[in-house]
Amino acid sequence: MKEKIEKAFEQHFGGKGTLYVAPGRFNLIGEHTDYNGGFVFPGAIDKLMMADIRPNGTDKVRVYSLDLNDNAEFGLNEADAPEQSWARYIFGVCREILKRGGKVEGFDATFAGNVPLGAGLSSSAALESCFANALNDLFNDNSIDKFELARIGQSTEHNYCGVNCGIMDQFASVFGKKDHLMRLDCRSMEFEYFPFKPVGHRLVLVDSRVKHELADSPYNKRRASCERVAKRLGIETLRDATMEMLDAIKTDITAEDYFRAKFVIEEKDRVLAVCDALVAGDYDTVGRCMYETHKGLSKDYEVSCEELDYLNDIAKECGVTGSRIMGGGFGGCTVNLVKEELYDNFIKTVKDKFNARYGHEPKIYPVIVSDGARRYEDQ
Ligand code: GLA
Repeated sequence: MKEKIEKAFEQHFGGKGTLYVAPGRFNLIGEHTDYNGGFVFPGAIDKLMMADIRPNGTDKVRVYSLDLNDNAEFGLNEADAPEQSWARYIFGVCREILKRGGKVEGFDATFAGNVPLGAGLSSSAALESCFANALNDLFNDNSIDKFELARIGQSTEHNYCGVNCGIMDQFASVFGKKDHLMRLDCRSMEFEYFPFKPVGHRLVLVDSRVKHELADSPYNKRRASCERVAKRLGIETLRDATMEMLDAIKTDITAEDYFRAKFVIEEKDRVLAVCDALVAGDYDTVGRCMYETHKGLSKDYEVSCEELDYLNDIAKECGVTGSRIMGGGFGGCTVNLVKEELYDNFIKTVKDKFNARYGHEPKIYPVIVSDGARRYEDQ
């Protein structure tokens, strides 16, 4: 990938830029909790976006996407937003830095990635973090702190891409650390690294290859449900809600909103339980919570689909310790915690069965927990 990006840079702009990378993420547990002020427990993965970038001394940005074989050129004013949705991620990052009083001038860039798109692995956060980190380095002497870099990516989603996402994906992409998960409290923004080397188990993502699309999607509706319930309870976010509080207003809210909030309230406790269990090496508890999350995401939060539920069923049948939908849902991957000795059989069975039903095999990505956004030469 590196050579191709450098070659494309040479062809399009001549000479060399500086290479930056930022990863996608997985999440062990804590789904749809981030925008509710709850906890999440993600890690960065070994799939990344890579960009070669060089200031060009003008007020124009010129970018070439190798994966899409497409060019974009835009100015840095609000009215200059590019047409292509992929370029809006980069434009958004530039604008959000400028809005915060940071500096961005014209630059040339080529980029590519191996984070599968629409698979729930945060390819868009990887792209945002890659450029946010690069522009911080190239134009701002790294004066923008890392949390702000994550927020720049999040605001890009909100203001330029139509997704009202939480902070988890950009946070994980910026702060990722090899062999560590991060438990982030999305209310206080305090976080802790947890060493992650599961003993006798492997983590693997199984990609249904059902593409999800979060923009203008049910994702924003889920968030709106949660906000309605919080407002009705007179609290800022569902982080401060309990089941007792929710049950007390059950007749005043729609059944749909009730079940959305119920899932969130249950999920935030599961994150803490899983962190404790992980430290104690109690993988059975970790796994049980993962199955509970799947059930809640499927039945109460309704962000699953037939294919993801089938993957979950197969995991259960194969004796997989824990399995669940990962990320926003509506397609993409399940994350699976599998005992070493069951691993090969699980992978074979899930491929065969899924293929028999849907006519294509799922993709398999072993989870390799990796470092966050950085300059390529720093790795
Ligand atoms: C998407 C969003 C995140 C988070 C997850 C669900 O990945 O971008 O902010 O809400 O869905 O946990």
